Amino acid sequence: MNRVVQWIDERTGLSGPVRDFLNYPIPQYVHKNFLYTLGGLTLIAFLLQVLTGILLVFYYDPSVEGAYNSVDYITYVLPLGWLVRGVHHYGASAMVILVSLHMLRTYFFTAYKRPREINWLTGVLLLFLVLAFGFTGYLLPWDQKGYWATKVGTEIAGSVPFFGPQIRALMRGGQELGQVTLTRFYATHIMLLPAAVMLLIVVHIFQLRYHGMAPPITERAKKNAKTFVPFFPNWVITDAIAGLGLVALLVYMSWANRAPLEFPADPTSSSYIPRPEWYFVFYFQLLKYFPGQLEPIATVAIPLFIFGSMILLPFIDTSPERQPWKKPVTTGVAIFYIVIIILFTYLGMSAPA
Ligand code: HEM
Repeated sequence: MNRVVQWIDERTGLSGPVRDFLNYPIPQYVHKNFLYTLGGLTLIAFLLQVLTGILLVFYYDPSVEGAYNSVDYITYVLPLGWLVRGVHHYGASAMVILVSLHMLRTYFFTAYKRPREINWLTGVLLLFLVLAFGFTGYLLPWDQKGYWATKVGTEIAGSVPFFGPQIRALMRGGQELGQVTLTRFYATHIMLLPAAVMLLIVVHIFQLRYHGMAPPITERAKKNAKTFVPFFPNWVITDAIAGLGLVALLVYMSWANRAPLEFPADPTSSSYIPRPEWYFVFYFQLLKYFPGQLEPIATVAIPLFIFGSMILLPFIDTSPERQPWKKPVTTGVAIFYIVIIILFTYLGMSAPA
């Protein structure tokens, strides 16, 4: 084994960088706080999505005629197909939850401040791309749920002032949903988004290694700031244990409840009530409060404002204060958004179907 490693090292010179990567010092206050595993868990969730996604591609048929039957086959006939699709299905929700919690952790710990702006900005893009994964994946089974939610979703994009019709046509590949739409969503879901996410994760982690973790915010953690443990095996073990817990949960959920598949998409049905995936419900609810001419407020103004303020945050909040309980504005804004999202999700879920 040693000779193999030596042979590779003589030709690549990789042993030095790999050793540096594994021995990277992690402060005790990070290693001892489970909130710092959320980023690693998001990464594990993403890798699980890649793995199960690759397996699904072997059996999935990206055609309007064959997509539904292939997903039905994977779920009910293919040995362990229920498991692979289940982990991919529930893993998507897990990723949305984990990435949101990880973002809240870095927000409340003010890890976006100088010099970690690029870490935060790549994170904002990653959040957006994780949601795009959910949106594009929803259509792929070509069942009623995915078809009608995508029809409404692309309709919303179409109502954007000035460029709306062009954006809708770009997404659909024509006026209506059909084979070109499915091909575009599939290509985006399995090629464009994974490539973009992988690239951003590399920059995200590289930035993290370059600057180290943001300084601690509590007095207790500050006492641990000068003690370090190596990344391997200490933090790797912590993340691996958390990752195994995640896998166990996803396997259990896939086993207890088959990933849903409704009736095949029927573009002529007039009675089907479109429902988005749960993490978009709050947005559908928000749209209800801005009917008719007010719609652009919900489709353009509010998303632009939120996305814009997330991008500008590290450049606006330049105060040296880092404790959330002494930062009423940033803490208040975050709590306001959390309450609104939970409330709107609840209202949207309990609205009559
Ligand atoms: C695919 C999505 C993402 C992955 C895989 C990922 C991964 C990670 C990992 C492994 C860490 C170090 C451990 C930790 O702090 O938990 C980290 C740190 C960080 N992440 Fe992310 N992240 C993602 C999305 C985001 C998002 C959405 C944001 C915010 C908008 C964000 C902002 C940050 C910041 C500012 C740090 C530095 C933390 C510090 O210095 O204390 N990340 N990320």
